[in-house]
Amino acid sequence: MLKSIPAVESAQFWQQVQWVADPIGYMEKAAQKYPDIFSSEIAQAWGKVFFVNEPQAIQEILTNDRKQFTAPGDLNTILSPIVGNNSVITLSSDRHKKRRQLVMPAFHGSRMQHYGELIAKLTRQSFEPMLARRSFAVRDVMQNISLQVILQTVFGLYEGDRLQKLGELISNLTELFNSPLTSAMLFFPVLQKDLGKWSPWGNFVAQREQIDKLIYAEISDRRANLEPERTDILTMLLLSTDVDGNALSDMELRDELMALLFAGHETTATAVSWALYWIERSPEVKSKLLHELAAQAKSDQGDQDWMSIFKLPYLTAVCNETLRVHPVAMLTFPRVVAESATILDVQLECNDIVMGCIYLLHQREDLYPEPKKFKPERFLERQFSPYEFMPFGGGVRRCVGEALAQFEMKIILATILRHYQLTLLDNQPVKPQRRGVTLAPKGGVKMQASQKLLSP
Ligand code: HEM
Repeated sequence: MLKSIPAVESAQFWQQVQWVADPIGYMEKAAQKYPDIFSSEIAQAWGKVFFVNEPQAIQEILTNDRKQFTAPGDLNTILSPIVGNNSVITLSSDRHKKRRQLVMPAFHGSRMQHYGELIAKLTRQSFEPMLARRSFAVRDVMQNISLQVILQTVFGLYEGDRLQKLGELISNLTELFNSPLTSAMLFFPVLQKDLGKWSPWGNFVAQREQIDKLIYAEISDRRANLEPERTDILTMLLLSTDVDGNALSDMELRDELMALLFAGHETTATAVSWALYWIERSPEVKSKLLHELAAQAKSDQGDQDWMSIFKLPYLTAVCNETLRVHPVAMLTFPRVVAESATILDVQLECNDIVMGCIYLLHQREDLYPEPKKFKPERFLERQFSPYEFMPFGGGVRRCVGEALAQFEMKIILATILRHYQLTLLDNQPVKPQRRGVTLAPKGGVKMQASQKLLSP
């Protein structure tokens, strides 16, 4: 017999407010009652939304997300104000598939060795000024590093006024969504009213216009002087055609660049900040990491091999455990039930929405005993399937930047741990807080840094 559908029991508007203001509280409360699946009403336009927290059910959804549980981009319009409607995030079906094929090679693992030097250099450049400060928010520094990395890999912009201006404007724009209150603008369309640039949405629109101006200027310059041998993503996009053989329009290019910029730097900055936070709170973890890095440096003999840092087992376990405890993205993108189905004995009807709940999956006691504890060793003691540990989602919308994000996390951490001594300034646990559609450390993790006298 089919189960009745377990649902969060409160009015839709109140559910939406809870989901925006305190997503962890919302999910954990529901999971106490319904640990595997529950239905909710967190989006006005969607009707019933199922949060799925059980690995086999998630596998069933994500391995059938071309046919039975489709992944249309128009369900991701919450991000349209930033990434438009023509990016890999918001495209559907064949156009989505083609666009992924276009951008994926740029983020393939084999290209990472090229980025190692760049990431280590940017880490040193961004960290050095912190030595003179009594206190700084780690997340701000990480945001600066990951933004520069993505600007350089996506646009191929290595220096100049345009790079600097674009960096500043994008930073300012993302800061607009740095709290649950301001993030509400994305979730409640009624708040998206441009009442002049002193109003919150008007300010957002004004800043976005400035960014667009710079992006369109760059596109125009690069079209006029196309250099096919360049390896950045903008060049690849300029050389490509859509499904009908047409070149991408300026607007399509703009949307894609914005999508990669945003998806590509906010997430990684948050992930490395959490990693540093846990390393500094866990002396044993830190000591094991330093030993591993010291042994690696010895075997390197001065000739930096970035891929061997990438493969270090304990560093990998620390990054995985960070993304388990704090998956940054709480949910996969939504999938739509295209053919009615039964999941975990629950009947799903056509047009119902299902989402893999990464946060709750990673908190399951049966997979991760003492789930609130930071224990990288669990990733050395056993292997988790891609549906038990999935910080980058799965199926047709699996994160395109996964290899870059993991590589970046490891090179940034290795560079910081080798060169700087950090002190966590607050003994209180740092809590996760909504930041747009992600979860980030509240307050950004305050630290102090000094130069290491002897680097490993
Ligand atoms: C720690 C860092 C990151 C995390 C935790 C993360 C997580 C995710 C997740 C959960 C999804 C949704 C997958 C799904 O629905 O199944 C996603 C999609 C995506 N990510 Fe990431 N991501 C990270 C870094 C990056 C980077 C560095 C880039 C690009 C440079 C990137 C670009 C994208 C794009 C474009 C999509 C949409 C893919 C599509 O719709 O086909 N992400 N990411």
